[in-house]
Amino acid sequence: GAAVEVDIGEIKPGEKITVEWRGKPVWIVRRTPEQVAALPNLDGQLADPKSERKPSELTPEYARNEGRSIKPEFFVAVGICSHLGCSPSDKFQLGAQPSLPDDWKGGFLCPCHGSTFDMAGRVFKNKPAPDNLEVPPHMYLSDSKLLIG
Ligand code: FES
Repeated sequence: GAAVEVDIGEIKPGEKITVEWRGKPVWIVRRTPEQVAALPNLDGQLADPKSERKPSELTPEYARNEGRSIKPEFFVAVGICSHLGCSPSDKFQLGAQPSLPDDWKGGFLCPCHGSTFDMAGRVFKNKPAPDNLEVPPHMYLSDSKLLIG
């Protein structure tokens, strides 16, 4: 089948791994408690904070929450920008910078045209990317095993 089983037991808080699913890069990020706590504070700066756009394509029902995830700690997303398909880079530890939101707590930055996403892959307002990053179908087989697809 097309599903991919991933061992997530070794991912440390603040780390990301990438696996391939159906030819696409899928990120598994283990968010720190600080990163989880910061998510609700960003809603006003985001284009679609509640993931209401294209729900069936971009956000499975079980991930239509602030963290866009089943478990707050783990974020699973397709690492392809919703603008023109570049691969955003990790920017987990940035402080405030002129071109970035004032209270930037890190997330993902697309190098192609500067779209920024928070730690739940939610796109910031007034960016070329129209939508949040896609959350692929996934489920937990155990505390350390994730099934994507
Ligand atoms: Fe990401 Fe254009 S492809 S901002």
